[in-house]
Amino acid sequence: MANVVRDPKEHPDAILPDLTKPDPLVKFKKDDIALVYGSIWKQRYFTKVGNDYFPLGAQWDITHQIWRNYFVANNTDWWVPLYPADNMKRPTGPLCDGCHSVNYNLQTHAVTEWNVGCERCHGPGSDHVAKPTRATIVNPARLDTVAATDTCIQCHSQGQPLQKPINGVYYDWPVGYEPGKNLRDFWQLEEHKIGETTFTHFADGTGHKNRMQGNDFVQSAMYSHGITCFSCHDVHGTDNRAQLLKPANVMCLECHGPNSPNGPRGATIEAHTQHPAGSAGNECVNCHMPKIETQLADVNVRAHTFKFIPPSVTVQDKVPNACNTCHTDKTPAWASEALRKWPGRSPWRVE
Ligand code: HEC
Ligand code: HEC
Ligand code: HEC
Ligand code: HEC
Ligand code: HEC
Ligand code: HEC
Ligand code: HEC
Repeated sequence: MANVVRDPKEHPDAILPDLTKPDPLVKFKKDDIALVYGSIWKQRYFTKVGNDYFPLGAQWDITHQIWRNYFVANNTDWWVPLYPADNMKRPTGPLCDGCHSVNYNLQTHAVTEWNVGCERCHGPGSDHVAKPTRATIVNPARLDTVAATDTCIQCHSQGQPLQKPINGVYYDWPVGYEPGKNLRDFWQLEEHKIGETTFTHFADGTGHKNRMQGNDFVQSAMYSHGITCFSCHDVHGTDNRAQLLKPANVMCLECHGPNSPNGPRGATIEAHTQHPAGSAGNECVNCHMPKIETQLADVNVRAHTFKFIPPSVTVQDKVPNACNTCHTDKTPAWASEALRKWPGRSPWRVE
C-alpha cells in the first residue's frame, strides 16, 4: 500500500502545498510539522508534543489545490463528544494511528512502522522471518472469505470498538485485532436504521462518507457469494487506478456478461446498460458504484454496495442515484421515465 504517513524532515517533498504562500487558514510553520498524512485526496499535518502527535488546524484539498479548515465537528464522528473541542487535546494515537501504522503501543505510544505494513494483513512476522514457511504467516487468501475480507475491513470501515474506554481512553480502531482473528470480537460496524440519513449512512444504507468500503461491501451479493476485496484489488500495487487487478470494466466482465449466471441478463452488455459501447454510461462502475461518498467537501469516492440506486430513492429519501450523477441537467423523474422503457427491468425494483 501507498506511503501515506511521512516525516517531512526525511522526505521534504512529502508536503504538497507551498507553505511560503500565506493563507488565513494556515497558522503553523513548516517546522511545526512532525508528520504528514495523505497523498491522494487530502493531506493533513501533525505536530509532536511528548510522545504524542496532534493534528494542525488546516488540511490541503489535493483535488482543488486549496486549504480547508481541519477540525472534526460535532455530529461527524461518534467520539467527538468524548474529546474536548481542541485539536491539541485529540492525539492521533487513539484516533488515527491504529489504522495508519503497525503495532501502535498503547503504553509507550510508539509504532514499529508508519503506514500499512505487511503485518497489518499478514499478522506478526517474526516467526516467519526465523522460519520462513507457509505455516508461520497468515495469507488472507487461505482464510475463509469472511475472515479474509475482515483483514481489509479492520481499517476500511466506520465503526466502534466493543471495549470502550480502555484505561480511560477512547480508541477509534479495533484494538487487539490481528488477521485471522474474528473482527466482530473487537469491532462493531457503525449502526444504521433504514430511513435515517446520518454522517455515515444515506437513508437506504449506502455509505455517506469515506472509509465505508467495508460497511458497504458486506451488503453486496458478491460478499455473500465469497468474493473478497482482493478479488478485485491487489494491495501490493498494480498499474491500474485504485490498485485494481485489471481496468474496472475488463475485471467486471471476467465474472459477468450476458451468458454468465452472475448476470446481468440481456443479450449484450449494451442491451443491459442501454448506452452505446464506448459511452461512459456503458461502464459498470458508473451505475453500480456511483461516486457519492464524501471524502472531503465535494470530492467523493465510490459506493461499494454494488446495488443500483434507483431515481425514485432520490425523490423519496434524498439518496443520490447513478443516473443523475451523470445526467445532472435532468430530474430523477426523467430518469425513472427512461428506465420504464428499458427491457428486462423490474418496475417493482427500479421505479
Ligand atoms: C493491505 C493488506 C496487505 C499488505 C499491507 C500486504 N499484503 Fe501480502 N497479501 C495480502 C493479501 C490479501 C494476499 C492474498 C491475495 C493476493 O495474493 O493478493 C497477500 C498475499 C501475499 C503473498 C503470497 C502471494 C502468492 O503468490 O501466493 C506474499 C508473498 C505477500 N502477500 C507478501 C507481502 C509482503 C512482503 C508485504 C509487505 C511488503 C505484504 N504482503 C503486504 C494482503 C496484504
Ligand atoms: C492498517 C489499515 C489498512 C488495512 C489493513 C487495509 N488498508 Fe487499504 N488503505 C488504508 C489507507 C490508510 C489507505 C489510503 C492510502 C493512501 O492515502 O495512499 C488505503 C487505501 C486503499 C486503496 C486505494 C489505493 C489507491 O491508490 O487509490 C485500496 C484499493 C485499498 N486500500 C484496498 C485495501 C484492501 C483490499 C485491503 C485488504 C486486503 C486493505 N486495503 C487493507 C489502510 C488500510
Ligand atoms: C478505522 C481506521 C482509520 C482511522 C481510525 C483513521 N483512518 Fe484515515 N484512513 C483510513 C483508510 C482506510 C483510508 C483510505 C480509504 C478512504 O478514505 O475511503 C484513510 C484515509 C485517510 C486520509 C486520506 C489519504 C489520502 O491519501 O488522501 C487521511 C489524510 C487520513 N486518513 C487521516 C486520518 C486522521 C488524521 C485520522 C484520525 C483523526 C484518521 N485518518 C483515522 C483508515 C482510518
Ligand atoms: C467487485 C470488485 C470490487 C470489490 C469486491 C471491491 N472493490 Fe474497491 N474498488 C473497485 C473499483 C472498480 C473501484 C474504483 C476504481 C476507479 O474509480 O476507477 C474501487 C475503489 C476502491 C477504493 C478507492 C476509493 C474510490 O472509491 O475511488 C478503495 C479504498 C477500495 N476500493 C477499497 C475496497 C475494499 C476495502 C473492499 C472490500 C471491503 C473493496 N474495495 C472491494 C472494485 C472493487
Ligand atoms: C471474481 C468474480 C467477480 C468479479 C470480478 C465481479 N463480480 Fe459481481 N458478482 C459476482 C458474483 C459471484 C455475484 C453474485 C451472483 C449471484 O447473485 O448469483 C455478483 C453479483 C454482482 C451484482 C449483483 C448485486 C449485488 O448485490 O452484488 C452486481 C451489480 C455486480 N456483481 C457488479 C459487479 C461489478 C460492477 C464488478 C466490477 C467492478 C463486478 N461485479 C466484478 C462475481 C464477480
Ligand atoms: C446505465 C446503468 C447501468 C450500467 C452501466 C450497468 N448496469 Fe447493471 N443494472 C442496472 C440496473 C438499472 C439494474 C437493475 C437493478 C435492480 O433490479 O435492482 C442492474 C442490474 C444488474 C445486475 C443484477 C441483476 C441481474 O440482471 O442479474 C447485475 C449482476 C449487473 N447489473 C451487472 C452489471 C455489469 C457487470 C455491468 C457492466 C458490464 C453493468 N451492470 C452496467 C444498470 C446498469
Ligand atoms: C457515467 C455517466 C452516465 C450514467 C451513469 C448514465 N448515463 Fe445516460 N447517458 C450518458 C451519456 C454520455 C449519454 C449520451 C449517449 C452517448 O454516449 O452517445 C447518455 C444518454 C442517455 C439517454 C439518451 C439521450 C437523451 O438525453 O435522451 C438516456 C435516456 C439516458 N442516458 C438515461 C440514463 C439513465 C436512466 C441512467 C441510469 C440508469 C443513465 N442514463 C446513466 C451518460 C450516463
